[in-house]
Amino acid sequence: MSIREYAIAAIPADGIGIEMTEATIEVLKVLERRFPDIRLNFETFDWGSDYYKKHGEMMPADGLKTLEPFDAILFGAVGTPDVPDHISLWGLRLEICQGFDQYANVRPTRVLPGIASPLRNCEPGDLDWVIVRENSEGEYSGMGGRAHRGHPEEVGTEVSIFTRTGVNRIMRFAFHTAQSRPRKLLTVVTKSNAQRHGMVMWDEIAAEVAKEFPDVTWDRMLVDAMTARMTLNPKSLDTIVATNLHADILSDLAGALAGSLGVAPTANIDPERRYPSMFEPIHGTAIDIAGKGIANPIASFWTAVEMLDFLGEQAAADALMTAIEQTTWAGILTPDVGGKAGTVDVTNAVVSAILDSDVQRKSVG
Ligand code: IPM
Ligand code: MG
Repeated sequence: MSIREYAIAAIPADGIGIEMTEATIEVLKVLERRFPDIRLNFETFDWGSDYYKKHGEMMPADGLKTLEPFDAILFGAVGTPDVPDHISLWGLRLEICQGFDQYANVRPTRVLPGIASPLRNCEPGDLDWVIVRENSEGEYSGMGGRAHRGHPEEVGTEVSIFTRTGVNRIMRFAFHTAQSRPRKLLTVVTKSNAQRHGMVMWDEIAAEVAKEFPDVTWDRMLVDAMTARMTLNPKSLDTIVATNLHADILSDLAGALAGSLGVAPTANIDPERRYPSMFEPIHGTAIDIAGKGIANPIASFWTAVEMLDFLGEQAAADALMTAIEQTTWAGILTPDVGGKAGTVDVTNAVVSAILDSDVQRKSVG
């Protein structure tokens, strides 16, 4: 048996990120027992807001160099009330996303069995989306500045940057994603009625790239109207592509419509595989419930599914996703999705679902 080994850098960072990452590593270690030809070698880094308080930086200056040889990064969440958000984010998460040019952010959303959507009459299968978020430029380009600081005439600018290269590559990625899904359906989100430069270019490039994918049906939606469509007609959507900020907002809506942000995963991907890609739950640090043992680990587990998938370990990814779905279906749910279970209960249930299928597999085989 030849063993496939992967080096995984774990960065739990802050708040519930710490307990979620711990639970995820535990689950992945159990998965390794079921798939003995896979070995995941974890190295954990203590970077984050506590590190900042001690060292004056969110990660060491050569942090990206340290991470570069890894196959993937498993990230928790970053942000605490006592470190300004723009420092903690730009110093760690965005530094990694942009430094490693992880330009495709992939956010699957689905109503899992046993979890109720807040939408009336939302049957299983009615809401099954993948949001592709441009992750390297747009409104998050970091361009802008402040002048006349502290004076009445103070100015702040926040400039969105759209490059032909950047838009082209995310459109191609999104069309590919749509093509790989059964419905082959893509909605391109825009705001080109009001934003008449970058967003008009975005639309033009979408139309150009569409010609390379004749088998994908696509349409265009203004972002404001998109919130209504997601809420009123979720079935009409499948794959969605949007700018950095638009997709940030839409993906919170998507998570909420799927029952909770506590189940929403994300992958920051460098599709060209020049650098490690980074996998994290969407929910953030949830400081109010950190350390209480009630945070929902499903988002982080689903994130690990995305990671295994990207590493090419489809069977392990499917096994973990099945274990997650068995757990939610059995009603072992944390309070954010209407249950009474704790992080440990959900983790244990996923672990036994992984091991149970092991038993089944052995008895079948
Ligand atoms: C997300 C988050 C981040 C983002 C924040 C924490 C900077 O909201 O991953 O959606 O806006 O990218
Ligand atoms: Mg967000």
